[in-house]
Amino acid sequence: MSLYENSVILAPMVRIGTLPSRLLSLRYGADLVYTEEMIDFKMLKTRRVVNEMLNTVDFVMDDGTVAFRTCDAEKDRVIFQIGTCHAKRALKVAKMVEKDVAGIDINMGCPKTFSISGGMGAALLKQPDLVKEILTELTSNLSIPVTCKVRCLSTVEETVQFCKMAESTGIHALAIHGRTRDERPRHKCKHSYIQDVARELQIPVIANGGSSDIKKFSDIEKFRLACGASSVMVARAAEWNLSVFRKEGPLDKLELIEEYIKLAVDYDNHWTNTKYCIQQTLGSEVQTEQGTQLLASKSPEDIYTVYGMMDYYNSVHERHQLYLAKQQEVEERGYDTIKGLKVKVISDEATGRALSYESNYVYNRKVSHENQTPKILLRECQETDPESRRFRCTMIYSNVKYISNQWHKRKMWAEQAACVIYMKLNDLQVPGLELSEPTSASVTTSSTRLTLGDTELQVSVTYRDGDAVSYSTGHCFSSETADGQSPSAMETLCRHLLKQRLEEPEYDIISDSTGRITNSLLRHSGIEYINTHSYETRKEAVNAVCHLYLLANKISSKSTHQQRVIALSSVQQLLDFQLKTAIPVAVSSSGSVFQSVSSSQCLPVAVSSSGSVFQSVSSSQCLPVSVFQCSVFQWQCLPVSVFQSVSSSQCLPVSVFQWQCLPVSVFQSVSSSQCLPVAVSSSQCLPVAVSSSGSVFQSVSSSQCLPVSVFQSVSSSQCLPVTVVTVV
Ligand SMILES: Cc1cc2nc3c(=O)[nH]c(=O)nc-3n(C[C@H](O)[C@H](O)[C@H](O)COP(=O)(O)O)c2cc1C
Repeated sequence: MSLYENSVILAPMVRIGTLPSRLLSLRYGADLVYTEEMIDFKMLKTRRVVNEMLNTVDFVMDDGTVAFRTCDAEKDRVIFQIGTCHAKRALKVAKMVEKDVAGIDINMGCPKTFSISGGMGAALLKQPDLVKEILTELTSNLSIPVTCKVRCLSTVEETVQFCKMAESTGIHALAIHGRTRDERPRHKCKHSYIQDVARELQIPVIANGGSSDIKKFSDIEKFRLACGASSVMVARAAEWNLSVFRKEGPLDKLELIEEYIKLAVDYDNHWTNTKYCIQQTLGSEVQTEQGTQLLASKSPEDIYTVYGMMDYYNSVHERHQLYLAKQQEVEERGYDTIKGLKVKVISDEATGRALSYESNYVYNRKVSHENQTPKILLRECQETDPESRRFRCTMIYSNVKYISNQWHKRKMWAEQAACVIYMKLNDLQVPGLELSEPTSASVTTSSTRLTLGDTELQVSVTYRDGDAVSYSTGHCFSSETADGQSPSAMETLCRHLLKQRLEEPEYDIISDSTGRITNSLLRHSGIEYINTHSYETRKEAVNAVCHLYLLANKISSKSTHQQRVIALSSVQQLLDFQLKTAIPVAVSSSGSVFQSVSSSQCLPVAVSSSGSVFQSVSSSQCLPVSVFQCSVFQWQCLPVSVFQSVSSSQCLPVSVFQWQCLPVSVFQSVSSSQCLPVAVSSSQCLPVAVSSSGSVFQSVSSSQCLPVSVFQSVSSSQCLPVTVVTVV
């Protein structure tokens, strides 16, 4: 006989259907118990943990919260209800719990705004095709039975038609709440709808919605008969008194509460949930003295004191503490206590010198340090100038400090500088590196006419020891390109730098109090390019200094003009996309190579081109899922540069960038879990990904729940929403 035939069932109930209530319902006589609805996205953020202290299986969030706890005692009789609107996601969740529960149920009845707006619960009643897809995905891929719980539709015919469609997917049973999506408990339960569904379906039908008339076990049977159903699912009547499942009649509430508390203590149920469930049981009796004390309780101990259960709590708590202490002892074997810290020391056998110290110390972020955090106190290791965001570094090796006392723009450079100092002083070779000593250089400035193609320009050039170190002009560069189509100077420059594999320049754009840009400066390879003309926009100003760079370095823009014409057709598709969606999309000026992630709203889009190899999918809302489906494409002009973007499943999108032609991987950007995916550089915990060859990329994670990483050329404007990477 099927699990769902002739059964009395505890209905799914948010907050009520936690482990103690389910176990108590089974103890009193329920045949099956449904869990509270678990939203798929939430479950996907959990990991399965076997809790040996409690003998439970826990699905635990990153912050330690237990989202779902179950145990052997209910394994064959617990049905796990999922809130979902997505077949693959539902299957993923079902697979997570498949070995721990007796069946899977899909909630298609919840009328709450949260569910409806997410396309879940009763919203599914209007999506028969999606329902079919979800249920078929589950029934075809699971080894345990699948059911769904629905509400009535507006007519009995529609209701029967919907339920038959659900039945056709191979589900094992169907629960129906005898009310429509808009009806509330005060409306009468539609027995006749349930009867018709029960008559038309071959699978067991579970009647639900009768709690208003259910006070004792025999009422459950009456309701089943009135609906002609196979089984009955009870919600509110059980919420008020779980012992409604007792054939012998319900227990006195106080007796029931004591039994409930014992289970809550045994299974370490969160005390706020325990309090809530007791409150629901008390109903109007919450007005009594005991009820008032319960309402005032602010800790588990308060609750247990109200019900005289402290002795029980203490004995279980003591057992749990003993267990934990033993566990800790095992874990701490091999640790010494040094200066109050538990530390495992690994020493060099020959010399006895300590090679590593490993501590199980947990840093408590909540402790207020008033800006004197350990990291700040240790700033001698890494000094930051908050004004200019520059860095100095002290490297300690064999108890000797090596200090680079020059400010560096990047933390990593400061670290490298400290390492170079160490290597030089210890006679270690640093290939290709020269120490640049401060010199008393001779500095001269002269006015020079620069010529490139048709362009002629008067420029003031400053030389140090005969080498040009700065080019300055007040010339007004037009933001228009010659033919209105050619790539801008900045695009041409980016393309040139990338082709030559040169690092990107830095820009300093200076505005006056009205916001008008008065000075634009580009710094590259130790040379400054300065334009003192004033511009309205940053883009104009950047283009102007780029133009100056091109002139000074005699980089022709003619060829890029032609490439642009060719490239246009290959990027047409992307440009169309950009126009249609109005999502900022990175466009390579050559049309062949670029990568970008846009962060418009909750729809991160990753787009690549070069033969339109791109794909980006985001799931809805604030959930940090970004799936990059394209895997590999070649950067046309570089020998073997490969951009590879791989996402692992769900909440842990990982992108890995690898430039194979460089001696080392450039960087790895890893997002953390939950709603704050952050790109992390391998060296630091700052949300910055840095190329080892220099300043190629900066990775910026957007804030809060928007799981978007934006990879942006460091040297191009930080406020540009778009990455532009150009390659000839
Ligand atoms: C507190 C509470 C929480 C509920 N949570 C869920 C839920 O998580 N999933 C679900 O399908 N229905 C949920 N429901 C609806 C019940 O399962 C049931 O369909 C409804 O209460 C009608 O049954 P009854 O007359 O036996 O109460 C909830 C109902 C209550 C009272």
